[in-house]
Parts: sequence; structure tokens; C-alpha cells
Amino acid sequence: MKKLILDLDTGIDDCLALAYALGSPEVEIIGITGTFGNVQRDTGVQNSLALLDLFGRQDIPVFAGASHALQRSTFDVQEASALIHGRNGLGNVQIPKSNRQPEHAPACDFLIESAKEHGENLTLVATGPMTNLAQALEKDPEFHNGCQITIMGGALTVPGNCNPVQEANISQDPEAADILFRSGTAITMVGLDVTLQTLLTYKETAAWRQIGTPAANYVAEITDSYIQAYGTIAPYLGGCGLHDPLAVAIAIDPSLASFFTTNLKVDLSEPFRGRTIGDEQRLNNPHKTVKVALTVDAERFLKEFMHRVSTCLLYTSDAADERSSV
Ligand code: BDR
Ligand code: CA
Repeated sequence: MKKLILDLDTGIDDCLALAYALGSPEVEIIGITGTFGNVQRDTGVQNSLALLDLFGRQDIPVFAGASHALQRSTFDVQEASALIHGRNGLGNVQIPKSNRQPEHAPACDFLIESAKEHGENLTLVATGPMTNLAQALEKDPEFHNGCQITIMGGALTVPGNCNPVQEANISQDPEAADILFRSGTAITMVGLDVTLQTLLTYKETAAWRQIGTPAANYVAEITDSYIQAYGTIAPYLGGCGLHDPLAVAIAIDPSLASFFTTNLKVDLSEPFRGRTIGDEQRLNNPHKTVKVALTVDAERFLKEFMHRVSTCLLYTSDAADERSSV
């Protein structure tokens, strides 16, 4: 079984990505690393711990990573993030707090150590700003050791979701994403090109409510607020974008997408700051390092999504208590 690390800025679709991964028999999550983004880093870390409790996976360690972009010393949550993910990152739904604490080691050390230990058997999926990955690369340029890295971020053939060129995760730390793309590390990019083709509606959250567990009810409520926010910001889509779970899904099963292989960079100066685009200096370099997902089998993904997330939402502490008393 492949080992998996999720690098999250735990907002609503990050929560769905976690549920997708927990419901996937092909992978074993060995840790979650947390970054700033949809919320402050510490709020995201607390959200990850609370969600792991809700899903009955207190065995999975959580590591705190970057609290701000590489070239900044502070971070303020953007109003758009609070609108989409709620002030607490989970649609302002109050899920029970965890008693657990994050581990002592910093996120980038955990990434480096895990890649050293598991090499090609490790998959890293980053669904927030790329700061933790850039920090790991700065500490050890070869840290990846053959592991597979998939990111949710960027937009190659469609406009951004922050402004005409910026996708949110890249916009939070363009320098970090640029370091990652230019490092020559093999990356799979799952950007808005495909994530805005995979949508969820109230019909699916109603199906979760039928499951009847606390996990299912909370996640349905959290996701309803996300669908509602999408109804305000992008009513033409007819649902909410499943950005982060799609990145996990493609990391596990690349046959869900088709790819364009190229060498990417991030524009760092205005007027196109934050744009993901081909690196003109490596255009003729035959060694292409980034696979950009450009088409997706949305129907098959949604089927997998409902099956895997529902499996995760079946958990109740009652069922766990019954199991352990047998
Ligand atoms: C990405 O930005 C964040 O708001 C989401 O969690 C997702 O990772 C979408 O652009
Ligand atoms: Ca995210």
C-alpha cells in the first residue's frame, strides 16, 4: 500500500480531500502537514486534528508548517477565503475540538524524513500554498527521493479564481510555487483547468445526511455552506468545485485525467504575478518536469468521490466502541 502525506490549509475542500483519502483502500495516510491559506496555520492544524477525531483516525499525526509566505513575516486571511470557507475554515460549523496536539517536529522535517524513508512508495499531495514544500526543497534540494508529488494549484488554460491570472493556492505564495516548479522535481499539477469541471450539489450532501452518523451530518453541513458560497461567487457553475479531493483522486488514480507535460514557472512580477505559465527558458529542454491535468473524467470521479467519502463518513465512535469490546 502506498504511503500518503496530505499538506493542507484545512478549509472545506481540504476536509473533503481528507475524507476521500481516508476512504481510499490504495493508500495509508502517514501524516498531515499544515499550512496557512484558507485560514491561519494554527486554525488549519486544529481543524485537521478535529476532523481526524470525527473520522476516528486519532492515530494519524499532524505537523504544523509555515504560518506565512516565504517572503512575508505575517499572514492575514483574505476576505474571499473567509467568505468561501467561513471564518473557522469549516463553514462556521462548530465541530468538537480535539484534545490532541500537533507533533513537535516542523512539517518540512517530516516531509524530508518521510521521503528519505519511503522514496517512490510515498505520495505527497499539497492542497494549500506550496510553502512547506519550498521549505523542504530549500533545506534539501533532493529531498523528494523519487516520491510522487501532486499539487492542487494553478490554472493553465482557464482564468484564475482570485483575479484573471491567479489561482488561490499559488496566489498565497507565488515564490514558493515558483521554487517548486523550477526545482526540476517531477510534479503533477491539478489546477482549475480540471477542478472546476468536478462539482458537488445539495443532492449529494442530502445523500450523506441519510448515512446518519455525526461525521456525515457535520460534513454535509460544512459542505452545504461551501455550495452556498459557490452559488454567490460562481452561480454559472451550478455547484461547488471539488478542487482538493480531485488532486487526491488523481494522485491515487492518474487514469482519471489526461495530461500536458511541460516546464512551468510562476510569474512573480506585476501585472501577471501568480500566473502559472510555461517557462520560456526551458521551453526547448526535452526534460519536462510538470504534468498538467487538462481533461478529467468528471462522471467517474464523482462516483468514486461519493463512494469513498461515504465510506469515511460511516464512522461512529459507538461502532468503534462496540468493535473494541468484542
Ligand atoms: C484552492 O484554494 C483553496 O481555497 C481551496 O482549498 C483549494 O485548495 C482552490 O483554488
Ligand atoms: Ca486547500
